[in-house]
Amino acid sequence: MSYNIAVIPGDGIGPEIVREAQKVLDAAGKKYGFELKYTEVLMGGASIDVHGVPLTDEAIATAKASDAVLMGSIGGDAKTSPWYKLAPNLRPEAGLLKIRKELNLFANLRPAYLYEELKEACPLRDDIIGDGFDMMIMRELTGGLYFGERHTTEENGVRKAVDTLSYDENEIRRIAVRGFDIARKRRHKVTSVDKANVLDSSRLWRSVVEDVAKDYPDVTLEHMLVDNCAMQLVRDPKQFDVILTENMFGDILSDEASMVTGSIGMLSSASLNETKFGLYEPSHGSAPDIAGKDLANPIATILSAAMMLRFSLDLDEAADAIEAAVKQVLKDGYRTGDIMSEGCTKVGTVQMGDLIAER
Ligand code: NAI
Ligand code: MG
Repeated sequence: MSYNIAVIPGDGIGPEIVREAQKVLDAAGKKYGFELKYTEVLMGGASIDVHGVPLTDEAIATAKASDAVLMGSIGGDAKTSPWYKLAPNLRPEAGLLKIRKELNLFANLRPAYLYEELKEACPLRDDIIGDGFDMMIMRELTGGLYFGERHTTEENGVRKAVDTLSYDENEIRRIAVRGFDIARKRRHKVTSVDKANVLDSSRLWRSVVEDVAKDYPDVTLEHMLVDNCAMQLVRDPKQFDVILTENMFGDILSDEASMVTGSIGMLSSASLNETKFGLYEPSHGSAPDIAGKDLANPIATILSAAMMLRFSLDLDEAADAIEAAVKQVLKDGYRTGDIMSEGCTKVGTVQMGDLIAER
């Protein structure tokens, strides 16, 4: 079996970490009998350098024609980047928002997983983390407050700003279906997060989610108010399996959840549309401070590649194998600088990729 993958190395550490992810994917392909054909796509500063814009229409067309997109990271160093002085719509990051919109990537998945071997980095107390936690935050990515009408007016010297939060039931249903489907591949529990005691959009959210839940009798659904959820994430993160929520709540809660794992260089993400198509990238940025020094941790990108196999290509077995290889490397005591602790062996980006590919 052969698949077409659009690869966006991007800026900063992007090219280094994507290279390691491809190395691991190719090793998995050899073992599990599939082949990935890569087409490189320029985006961000890398595209501005060549084409003068952060993302060309041809690049979008290449991405659309592929089975999935694997991305490094976008963005330059604000202080030294030649792009910094350019107009805002020429900023490298503008390419990211454009591709999400053009590809209709409405479902954003961000796992927050605590590795046994990295417990020391977790800011929570031992009695709270217990045996660890493993949750998937499912955030609606193309609706809600960030995409509603907005305006600022001034009357009698008083300025007033309005943002609108709106969802229709189809937008809610499609993300809910994704959330329940994913819960089925995990521990069969969905926590739907809203503010239904105040907001109409949340009451609609809750009623549509309940409706969708009827098709998933094997999945437990609970509702939680967003303020309580923010508290529960640091009080008892073990209780969560899939957290399903709208755009802004998901933005805030997913950042909170990733911080409680203590290791940003380890966290993957996926953004999916209505088909199996998706864009896979690490949760972190382009880390210009460590770019080109063989210091970056490639694991977040390698785990994003594993998500790509699982969600876009249905290669679950190979995805499991990559995740197991990452755990094994940590167990064997290898660490990049960002997750280094006493008694472990420090390795660079390339060696970390080699070690995971070997396993
Ligand atoms: P960042 O995530 O790039 O870096 C924050 C800190 O974490 C830095 O000290 C960096 O060295 C470290 N770090 C990040 N990833 C690492 C890895 N894999 N291994 C080891 N250390 C790692 O966030 P920052 O500095 O706020 O942003 C830098 C650039 O990245 C900006 O241009 C920003 O707009 C862009 N960005 C892009 C994203 C994307 O492509 N999706 C997401 C977030 C930021
Ligand atoms: Mg955010």
